[in-house]
Amino acid sequence: MSFDERTDNHKDSIIILEKKILIDEIHTSKDRLDRKTFPQDFISAMLELQKHFFLVVVQDHDAEEPSIDDLVKNLAKQSQLEFHFQDPGTAPACTYAIQPGPKVSFSSDLKDSPLPDTLTVSFHNYGDMVVWILSHEDPYRNLLSMLHDGAEKIKKGDLVAFPTETVYGLGADATNPSAVEKIFVAKKRPLYDPLIVHVGDHDQMASLVTGLPEKAEQLMARFWPGPLTIVLPKSPIVPSVVTAGTPTVAVRMPSNPIALALIRLSGKPIAAPSANLFGYTSPTTARHVEEQLGGSYGAIIDGGACIVGIESTVISFLGETPKILRPGGVDQQSIESCIGPVLSEKQEKSDASMISPGLMPSHYATTTPLWIVDDLHEYASRSDVGILLFGKDGQEFQGPVEYLSRSEDPREAANRLYQAMRRLDGLSLSLLVVELLPETGIGVAVNNRLRKAAVNFSN
Ligand code: TXA
Ligand code: MG
Repeated sequence: MSFDERTDNHKDSIIILEKKILIDEIHTSKDRLDRKTFPQDFISAMLELQKHFFLVVVQDHDAEEPSIDDLVKNLAKQSQLEFHFQDPGTAPACTYAIQPGPKVSFSSDLKDSPLPDTLTVSFHNYGDMVVWILSHEDPYRNLLSMLHDGAEKIKKGDLVAFPTETVYGLGADATNPSAVEKIFVAKKRPLYDPLIVHVGDHDQMASLVTGLPEKAEQLMARFWPGPLTIVLPKSPIVPSVVTAGTPTVAVRMPSNPIALALIRLSGKPIAAPSANLFGYTSPTTARHVEEQLGGSYGAIIDGGACIVGIESTVISFLGETPKILRPGGVDQQSIESCIGPVLSEKQEKSDASMISPGLMPSHYATTTPLWIVDDLHEYASRSDVGILLFGKDGQEFQGPVEYLSRSEDPREAANRLYQAMRRLDGLSLSLLVVELLPETGIGVAVNNRLRKAAVNFSN
């Protein structure tokens, strides 16, 4: 049946593909232009989706290269992909729109929703995206009902795993000590490692601390909601189990709309560490959480992959000069452009001395040994060695390669880091090797995670 002959039953079953995604996919394939094809994982994902949906491509006639249209049409045909090309303005209403990333967006006209009218969920790869789409028939309402259920569970003192923009968190009502204790049990986390409290607005933040220095307020105005955690003296409403008995509390307002909605619907500040077993690689998808912690929480909300991909920056306001305790999603330069000079830990052996409870030298670890090396090519002939590659072409390696960022973009490397470490860790290899990224911007945080993941494995 052609797109125009579709019956009413199919009216909602439409996926719009942005043409840019098709062009991006063609350009990331390494073949010469005359032999270009779509990558295999893209083709297999689309073949699966077209069993359930009409795949509509909105043509963009302003494209400087009209030949791209023909190329896309030809490649689609060769791969048995049934794309329905539509002119802008004639595109039908759709359930999902797929965008580069890959990402999927969908909308709702529900009134008074705690979520934005349009939600965008991102993924590490097309395979994950297809699984998510096929399990979320009415995605907006589906997420909404999971959120309402999750908020009820938080209020009752249960644990709820949820996505944030950095990593998945394992959350509990931060004002309920016995709920918070369950987090430590589920993660096998020592009680001396304090938790970050997640808030839904600035008033909630103000209720957790004894006062707000001006520079902390400036950071909140600039980076919240977002991947920045602020450490300040705690108010009496924060139970000591949250802060590991210290008189300070770490707080952040996440930007992921699902996380924000969960906090706001529950009406509680939510204490949440990364949702992994203590010491191991952090999770950036719901599946990662289920693999390590499945069964130990009351609910999990699957919001796709975390876009930042590594944890928040933790900055303390206890000393005279603010100090970065953990590099993360907001880099030092951005912080300093907002509030002037700050202190930070040197990425040296001194890492081994604890600068704050819980900032342990070994963390984020894979079970397969991970080495930081100067030259990956020394391992090129080893089929039992997994390669974490930043930029470059991995064709010469005998072992499996995970590309952190082919275009040497440290943000993309952060987004892919834990997913890549986990995939290689699951292949029963003898060793994983990686070179450090340039030590600037978010590369500092990526290198910090790599060093801590590698610390117990000496090379
Ligand atoms: O991005 C993130 O921060 C994620 C998501 C879920 O929000 N959370 C996260 O939590 O990374 P966790 O528990 O894996 O790491 C929290 C870090 C620990 O290193 C802990 O020692 C530090 O924050 N921290 C928490 N409270 C602190 C405090 N009062 N003083 C100093 N450091 C603190
Ligand atoms: Mg963690």
